[in-house]
Amino acid sequence: MMRLAGIVVTIFAFASILSCQSDEEIKRQRYITEGILIYKNNCANCHQTKGEGLAALYPPIAGSDYLADKKSVICLIRYGQQGPIVVNGKKYNRLMPAQPQFSDLEVAELVTYIYNEWGGQKKLIGVKEVTPILAQCKK
Ligand code: HEC
Repeated sequence: MMRLAGIVVTIFAFASILSCQSDEEIKRQRYITEGILIYKNNCANCHQTKGEGLAALYPPIAGSDYLADKKSVICLIRYGQQGPIVVNGKKYNRLMPAQPQFSDLEVAELVTYIYNEWGGQKKLIGVKEVTPILAQCKK
């Protein structure tokens, strides 16, 4: 009897770990789905659908070494970017427009999509992580 109880407890413990992971996974998938739409509507005309960028005008996002600086990426999405920058050893110097209408959640969805699709990460970047970063951006 004791043994059976032990097995039942073990099964429940496993089940709760699994469901916990899948909640996070469901959320990640939802963020990515939204992120794709936001990207297509607001970013792809410059950075292109596959994030490959456009000639010397618009830098690539796919495989960009700039992604190492996640705080700057989060900030430039809402506040834009101006002045010379270097991406994968190539210089760019054009205006990227600000997107002040994006909510913190929309920025988080977009950033989750970008890092999962092109930054070699398989993880959620939640709104709880993004909000304090946005609050510290130099405007
Ligand atoms: C009007 C064209 C344009 C649009 C639209 C645009 N960008 Fe950009 N983006 C640029 C330019 C130009 C730069 C480089 C800015 C510079 O030269 O200082 C840049 C830089 C970046 C960078 C940093 C460098 C790199 O390539 O890794 C990221 C990340 C980025 N943009 C993401 C986005 C996202 C996400 C969106 C959609 C919300 C977006 N951009 C919309 C033109 C654009």
